[in-house]
Amino acid sequence: MNIFQNFKARSKLVKAFREGGIYKTIGSDERKIFPKIHCVPNDQYDYYVFTLPNGVDPNLLKKRFYVFQQIFGDGIYLDGEFKKFTLTIKESKKIPEINYDYPKLLEIIKKENILMPIVCGGEETEKLRIYDATNSPNLLIYGEPGSGKSSILHVILSTLTQYYSPSQIEFYLADFKMSELNLYEGVEHVKSISYLTNDFGPALKYLKKELTKRGQLLKDHKVRHINKLPEEQKPPYIVLCVDEFVMIKDDQIMTDLLQIASLGRAYGIYLILSMQRPSHKILSTDVRGLLSVRMGFRTVDKRNAMIGETPGSEKISKEQPGTFLLNLDELAELRAPFLNEEKTEEILGKFKNDAWVNHNYKKSSSPDKEELKEQKELTEKDVFNDAVN
Ligand SMILES: Nc1ncnc2c1ncn2[C@@H]1O[C@H](COP(=O)(O)OP(=O)(O)OP(=O)(O)O)[C@@H](O)[C@H]1O
Ligand SMILES: [Mg+2]
Repeated sequence: MNIFQNFKARSKLVKAFREGGIYKTIGSDERKIFPKIHCVPNDQYDYYVFTLPNGVDPNLLKKRFYVFQQIFGDGIYLDGEFKKFTLTIKESKKIPEINYDYPKLLEIIKKENILMPIVCGGEETEKLRIYDATNSPNLLIYGEPGSGKSSILHVILSTLTQYYSPSQIEFYLADFKMSELNLYEGVEHVKSISYLTNDFGPALKYLKKELTKRGQLLKDHKVRHINKLPEEQKPPYIVLCVDEFVMIKDDQIMTDLLQIASLGRAYGIYLILSMQRPSHKILSTDVRGLLSVRMGFRTVDKRNAMIGETPGSEKISKEQPGTFLLNLDELAELRAPFLNEEKTEEILGKFKNDAWVNHNYKKSSSPDKEELKEQKELTEKDVFNDAVN
């Protein structure tokens, strides 16, 4: 940062002080004493540090915060109590593109002993964040068209396909835009791909039946998680993934989906939903609670970012697709490794089987109508009563 930029940054803050009336006047000539600026945003920091002159009411800063917003935009945060304050000017990071590299991911998964690896991304190729979905089973991905939602889905699913065998993990996919997930047709791990909500209903019904079965299994063994079952009895993990889930207009399907999400943790069922715009209508308090992990790609505006709970994702540059804010323990800005369609196809090709059939749950163990009628709505309490007592 050169002297000129430094001067410009200072003047901008002084302007805010002047217009907000944040200064002390002394002497007969009413000389203005402005807060002392100790540090301006530069290549290393994204904040100002300043101290108020004694006698200036610190509450003024809060009251006149709008002046700072008018001058710096609304992605700013003020921190401090009496005298010393930090004003953070949050700009989206420019993270260079990261290539998808499975051996490197595998190294991290092994080193960190991750059971259910969900690849996120990083700030540089060497340090990628992968979280374990065992305790945070349900993920919501959102962002405007072209922001990178489907690409990260490919990264997550391709990684799981390579990491687990078809007897260890099963995918149930829904792609109502009919554009992205057909690549997975033929992959042995994939049990069903639905392109119409009508096809998806039966898949969910089947999964609900699977919940009941797994609940019974846990009861019989008096354990609380399928990971605790004896190896030979352990059912495969299930990943249920819906691209553009807002296209589900059927209330029953939505109810089933949420029921599966609420019970999935103990049963090894993991949910990944993606949508373009988070809205209050869809993200009710219940749904928010269930979808605890968020990946907020570029959102159209601040409101959408706030609803999704990744404030700042509206600032992600259009020029940086694949960049997102991960809301897990705290907010982190990351860029997903990139896997284009051809490469995804190349990886998946190794796992394809000519005898593959879509929806093969229908043939063997699809519940009949009577069974479904009998199956009452499950709650975690129903299932665990015995195991807990
Ligand atoms: N991690 C990434 N690194 C670099 N470029 C990326 C990354 N992710 C996505 N892109 C680029 O952005 C384009 C759009 O990404 P993608 O198809 O995933 O968007 P989307 O959010 O699913 O959009 P839509 O809502 O229209 O389906 C990709 O074709 C690719 O060129
Ligand atoms: Mg997409």
